[in-house]
Amino acid sequence: MPCAVVLQTKISARELEHIKKYPNAKLISLGIGDTTEPLPDIITLTMADYARALSTAEGYRGYGAEQGNKALRKAIAETFYKDLPVKDTEVFVSDGSQCDISRLQLLLGNNVTIAVQDPSFPAYIDSSVIVGQAGDFEDETGKYRNIEYMKCEPQNQFFPDLSTTSRTDVIFFCSPNNPTGHAASREQLEELVEFARHNGSVIIYDSSYAAYITDESPQSIFEIPGAREVAIEISSFSKFAGFTGIRLGWTVVPEELFYSNGFPVINDFNRIVCTCFNGASNIAQAGGLACLSSEGFMVETLASVGLKVYGGANAPYVWVHFPGMKSWDLFTKILEKTHIITVPGCGFGPGGEEYIRLGAFGHRECIVEASGRLRSLFS
Ligand SMILES: Cc1ncc(COP(=O)(O)O)c(C=O)c1O
Repeated sequence: MPCAVVLQTKISARELEHIKKYPNAKLISLGIGDTTEPLPDIITLTMADYARALSTAEGYRGYGAEQGNKALRKAIAETFYKDLPVKDTEVFVSDGSQCDISRLQLLLGNNVTIAVQDPSFPAYIDSSVIVGQAGDFEDETGKYRNIEYMKCEPQNQFFPDLSTTSRTDVIFFCSPNNPTGHAASREQLEELVEFARHNGSVIIYDSSYAAYITDESPQSIFEIPGAREVAIEISSFSKFAGFTGIRLGWTVVPEELFYSNGFPVINDFNRIVCTCFNGASNIAQAGGLACLSSEGFMVETLASVGLKVYGGANAPYVWVHFPGMKSWDLFTKILEKTHIITVPGCGFGPGGEEYIRLGAFGHRECIVEASGRLRSLFS
C-alpha cells in the first residue's frame, strides 16, 4: 500500500545503503520538503518573551480561543485575503494544514466520494484511507477504489480534463501543487469552481505554497467569483515562514458554504475544532503574529541598534528619531548608503526635523531586506 510514511522510510533506507556503498561520495539531498533557513529574531524573540511571561502571574495564559487568537485571525484575514471578503471569524488557526486535512476528513465522514490531483501531496489520500473513505487498493492500477484520480501532466497544462472527470462530493486541489510545482491559472480555477458549483461538490483548496507565486496566478481560491459557496481553503506558515517545526496554519470556511440540507459547514467545522483540537499553541501563535507584522519587524530591528523608534503598533509607519540631525541629511545618507527611499520628517512640519518616516507597506521580504540594510548602516 503506497503511503507517505512508507515512501519516506524507503528513501531513507536507500540513502543509508548508498552512503555505505559510496562512503566518500558527497551526497546531496534534494528529496526533503523541509525548510532550512534560520528564523528572523523578531519571531523567535517574540516567542521566547511569550514563553518567559508564562512563568509570571501577569503573563500566564491557559486555554485560548479554540479557533485561534483574535489578533492573529485578523492579521491572517488582512494579510492573505486583503481585498477579498474573508472575515477573521471565518479563519480557524491550526497547528498546520496537514492536521486540518484530517480534521476536514472527519468533518466530511467516510460516506463521500473524493477526487485528487494525480500526482498530489499524499496526505489527501492517506487520510481518506484512515477515515475509511477510500476503497481497496488495486495493484494493477496503483489506485484506491472510490477515489477519482485527476491526471495532471504537461500534456494538459497540469490541470485535469474536467469534461472526463466524474462528479465527486469533495475535490482536493492544491495550487501551487506539490510535487509538480504548477500554479493553476485564473481560467483553470474558474473552470474548477464552475465544475464544483455545477456538481454540488466541495473544493478543499490547499494554498500552503501560495506565497511562492510570482506571476498573476491566484493566491487564494476566494479570488474566484462563486468560490465562497463551494470552497474551503487550508494554508500554512510552514513553508513561507519556516514554521515546519513550530506548527502553525489556518483554514478558511466561508459562511456561504452549506450542506445540501442547508446547515452551515462553518458551524460543523467549529465543532470539530472545539472537540478534536482545542486550539494552536499560544507560543506558536505569538510567533505567527510577529511574522505577519512588518511594522513590528522594522521597529525591533532598528531598536536593536539603539535607535529611538516610535509607531508601528497601530499604523504602518515607523518614526525614527536621530537627535541633532537634519531630516534631509538623513534622507540623503540613507539613500546613498542603503538605496532606500524614506520620507524626511521635516516634510510633516518643523516638529519632524530630526526624524525620518519609514513606511511598512512593502512585501515582507522587502521589509526584511530593508531592515537588514538599515541595521548595517546604523550599527
Ligand atoms: C501541499 C502541502 N500541504 C500541506 C503540507 C503540510 O503543511 P503543514 O506543515 O502546515 O502541516 C505540505 C507539506 O509538505 C504540503 O506539501
